[in-house]
Amino acid sequence: MFYSAVLLVLVSVAVAQQTEWEQCGGIGWTGGTTCVSGTVCTELNDYYSQCLPGAAPSTTAAPSPTTSAPSTPTQTSLIPRLGGVNTAGYDFSVATNGSFSGTGVSPPVSQYSHFTAEGANLYRIPFAWQLMTPTLGGTIDSSFFSTYDTTVQAALNSGPNVYVIVDLHNYARWNGEIIGQGGPTNAQFASIWTQIAAEYGSNERIIFGIMNEPHDLPSVETWSDTLQYVVTQVRAAGSQNFLLLPGSSYSSAQTFPTEAGPYLVTITDPLGTTDKLLFDVHKYLDSDNSGTHADCVTNNVDVLTTLVQFLQENGNRQAILSETGGGNTASCETDLGQELAYVQSAYPTLVGFSIWAAGAFDPTYVLSVTPNANGTDQPLWIDAVIPNLP
Ligand SMILES: *[C@@H]1O[C@H](CO)[C@@H](O)[C@H](O)[C@H]1NC(C)=O
Ligand SMILES: *[C@@H]1O[C@H](CO)[C@@H](O)[C@H](O)[C@H]1NC(C)=O
Repeated sequence: MFYSAVLLVLVSVAVAQQTEWEQCGGIGWTGGTTCVSGTVCTELNDYYSQCLPGAAPSTTAAPSPTTSAPSTPTQTSLIPRLGGVNTAGYDFSVATNGSFSGTGVSPPVSQYSHFTAEGANLYRIPFAWQLMTPTLGGTIDSSFFSTYDTTVQAALNSGPNVYVIVDLHNYARWNGEIIGQGGPTNAQFASIWTQIAAEYGSNERIIFGIMNEPHDLPSVETWSDTLQYVVTQVRAAGSQNFLLLPGSSYSSAQTFPTEAGPYLVTITDPLGTTDKLLFDVHKYLDSDNSGTHADCVTNNVDVLTTLVQFLQENGNRQAILSETGGGNTASCETDLGQELAYVQSAYPTLVGFSIWAAGAFDPTYVLSVTPNANGTDQPLWIDAVIPNLP
């Protein structure tokens, strides 16, 4: 995801009474279970009941997908089905040319326990390359790493089965130059990941998001060679982690089968199996697939069906939809609900999803699923996401 404005940090405030839209039950819930007059405590899933207006439960909010995934009786998965959200902030002001002019904003850690209580088990935490290693190819800044790690640990500690994607959010670039194609060398790129491997290499609940949204690459084949170099180096550094490999055209799920996919399926893992190499894809639902409009025009089931077929025909590989989302509008509640229901049906070929975005985004941001200041969730999250969490 790219955006130009730096937005205000939201600090969530928990409230004690079960007024309209508040939680009123679910596994692990210790607060009140009665709702104010005019609302009904409605079970949305095992983990979350909410005081909804009137007597009409919204458990039917997510419609069934229009197409079901091909059956995959022989495919197994080392990783459980994942669903959750991007918690943005450390990436604020990274431009699509890989330049960075910000300072990083910490996502409010209260969101992790909030969303995990609702059933989420995946948090993607983007960061600017320049914050982690202020000098290209240099050592990790220990002060920033400590700050970032506090956020990662808060996410991991929100539940025993929670996974985190450490997301290097730089569009395959550093200050306008493309990795391995005139810009940073493959060794400079691999350096940040071998250092992160030294910190997180033995924690299998930390997934390495090798690069966010490569785009306008002179050679996709050369980019695939760069990824192979990083995979080899990261394993040599002792990493056992799942690695997310991004294609081209902003990690497009749509172009993956014809553009980057044919190259990326040839990448090998020194671990001896490709089971821990997952493909990283993004897809929005608005008119130009940019994720900048409040309204949605597609549920993407056709695009994802084509992707699933490609993955199954090329070694039964797996992908994760690490960015998707829409506005808090009726069209997006319908389309996103259908998309996420399809993703759920296509496990394990599609491992899961993370919605763009919460974290330090204000609730007024067009694609925001950041909880309101009074602790209530956005309508899109309630109607389209919660019903499709693992
Ligand atoms: C919580 O805040 C949202 C956004 O300001 C508002 O729409 C909603 O009515 C509030 N709910 C409660 C229970 O105060
Ligand atoms: C990158 O893009 C930003 C935002 O458009 C611009 O201000 C900056 O000059 C660009 N930097 C390079 C090196 O192209």
